[in-house]
Amino acid sequence: MARFDGKVAFITGAARGQGRSHALRLAGEGADVIAVDRCAPIATVAYDLATPDDLAETVRLVRDLGRRVVTAEVDVRDAAALGTAVREGVSELGRLDVVLANAGIGLMRPEAPSAEAFRDQLDVNLGGVWNTVQAAAPVLVEQGRGGAVVLTSSAFGLTGRGGDGSGGGDGYVASKHGVVGLMRTWANWLAPHGIRVNCVNPSGVATPMVLNPAVEALFGGSIDTPAKPADDVANLLDVMLVQPEDVSAAVAFLASDEARYITGVALPVDAGMLVR
Ligand SMILES: NC(=O)c1ccc[n+]([C@@H]2O[C@H](COP(=O)([O-])OP(=O)(O)OC[C@H]3O[C@@H](n4cnc5c(N)ncnc54)[C@H](O)[C@@H]3O)[C@@H](O)[C@H]2O)c1
Repeated sequence: MARFDGKVAFITGAARGQGRSHALRLAGEGADVIAVDRCAPIATVAYDLATPDDLAETVRLVRDLGRRVVTAEVDVRDAAALGTAVREGVSELGRLDVVLANAGIGLMRPEAPSAEAFRDQLDVNLGGVWNTVQAAAPVLVEQGRGGAVVLTSSAFGLTGRGGDGSGGGDGYVASKHGVVGLMRTWANWLAPHGIRVNCVNPSGVATPMVLNPAVEALFGGSIDTPAKPADDVANLLDVMLVQPEDVSAAVAFLASDEARYITGVALPVDAGMLVR
């Protein structure tokens, strides 16, 4: 029996990158998926976000694995729309077991007013996580079968590096620290219901968030092979970017019954960056 047979996972930011990888990992182990994504740009963000075609590709890949998938084009800042997406997904797929609050934004346009960039970082990366769990946790509680919540923070949620304010770095660091705080307090809130709450804290991951022209301009080439010093993002092991599948492996473990007594944990998937 696969780890997620008969289970349903709600995943934000599922159109591409880590969210898609998590969807495929869990679907490959038996889960049906409620996949949401904004599928449109945000004006202050320095790179394009996912498109409706990206979300359609996630759908195709999940179905290729023989699993069911329900989608919604929803911005995680829109609490009401997230609530509708959860309700409709659960009504179609029958239940909810796993919640992955993964959607997020990274580098902000240098010309964006810094206060606006900061607010957007907090609204998406922290407010969006709050909205996601507020929408989904009551369903888990009402079902009375427990569940697992995994929040996507960052290595930058556990260190002060990268916070000079350029490119929204301070907002990113603040929002990702905030996610760790939510994880810790929600682990207390939800433990009486048998619901575990953990987070993953990746260093650089090979997704469009960092493999894009705006980040390349910052690093004088691909962040994978940076021309400029990249001490803030350098790992201990000999790898600049981990793969989305590396994070999915950690997420799948935390979401599975193998981690049944693990809650309140911030798990770095950082090739040792945080001990440097
Ligand atoms: N790539 C990295 O180096 C890295 C490192 C550590 C943590 N993270 C975090 O991992 C998570 C996933 O990022 P990724 O690397 O897959 O990047 P990505 O840009 O490929 O994927 C992010 C997804 O979130 C969606 N999204 C963004 N804002 C949204 C919103 N307001 N509402 C709904 N959907 C929205 C995007 O459309 C996209 O599909 C993010 O929270 C990110 O901060 C990324």
